[in-house]
Amino acid sequence: MYLNGTKHYFGSSETERKLDCLRRYLEAYSIALQNKNFCRLYIDAFAGTGSRTETRAVLPFMGEGEPSVTEVTTPGSARIALETKPGFHHVVLIENDPIKIDALKSVLDEYPGNRARVRGGDANQIVQRICKRFEDDKRLRGVIFLDPYGMEVAWETVEAIANTKALDCWYFFPLSGLYRNAPKDAERFDEGKITALTRVFGTDSWRQDWYEVGPQTDMFGKLDERRIATVDRIEEWVRDRLKSVFKGDVLRPMRLHHPNGAPMASLFFAISNPNKAAVKLATDIAAHILKLGISSHVR
Ligand SMILES: C[S@@+](CC[C@H](N)C(=O)[O-])C[C@H]1O[C@@H](n2cnc3c(N)ncnc32)[C@H](O)[C@@H]1O
Repeated sequence: MYLNGTKHYFGSSETERKLDCLRRYLEAYSIALQNKNFCRLYIDAFAGTGSRTETRAVLPFMGEGEPSVTEVTTPGSARIALETKPGFHHVVLIENDPIKIDALKSVLDEYPGNRARVRGGDANQIVQRICKRFEDDKRLRGVIFLDPYGMEVAWETVEAIANTKALDCWYFFPLSGLYRNAPKDAERFDEGKITALTRVFGTDSWRQDWYEVGPQTDMFGKLDERRIATVDRIEEWVRDRLKSVFKGDVLRPMRLHHPNGAPMASLFFAISNPNKAAVKLATDIAAHILKLGISSHVR
């Protein structure tokens, strides 16, 4: 991922699968709630520039010509939210990169009448602050999208979202980042990696659940500690961890992959509202969307 001018280059066809889930959910959610007496809020915690640019290879047609490269720009999560009909009553776009903040502000000019604003700064602090407002306004309902590059979401932020009991949360959980920080051989741990994992999960219990300490010691008398948890086990573990705070439910996620087939991320959908009708509504919509997304994955 990189920025060239205001063009934000990131993702692959897998990113389209992710954004398609968001698009479908926001549309269905807005329609379902439009005649209810709720104020609908959308929070994009890692908003980017509003658009996504990808370079794609163009192969010669029928063997004629040379292979080339083309650029394709498509709506990112912020534009998807702004284009949702019926519109949200409030849209908050959070971003910490000054160039992207300016790009987002220009995007807002294209959608006059939208009650949207850009908040520059750290997503964790801003989301936690916004979540406090739910304590005073019981009419607020909404959707939050957590789409970090890596391990930027702190557990306190996840807890704050869950405590609103009013936000549905799409969380693009970075399996790659997790792998980078949880090496197979615990010898390769450093304080930075341990701190990053504990910050994301709000506990250090991941270590005893994913690692096994063997009976043997090495030549220096150090115990042999290895990660035995597979990606499937870790994904289940993350889901259980989310379920410990999201009292509605956390659905089975959709797995996304790098072009080489390695696991990249898991798209989780978590419901903070424990109310039965709210859980049913959100589950009916999101489960269908995740099923469509999973079946569209061709490897
Ligand atoms: C994967 S991109 C988001 C893409 C966007 N959701 C879209 O669909 O176009 C992640 C974004 O998070 C921003 N970011 C990273 N850390 C952040 C933080 N702590 N607070 C706010 N934004 C952050 C990055 O600048 C980047 O634009």
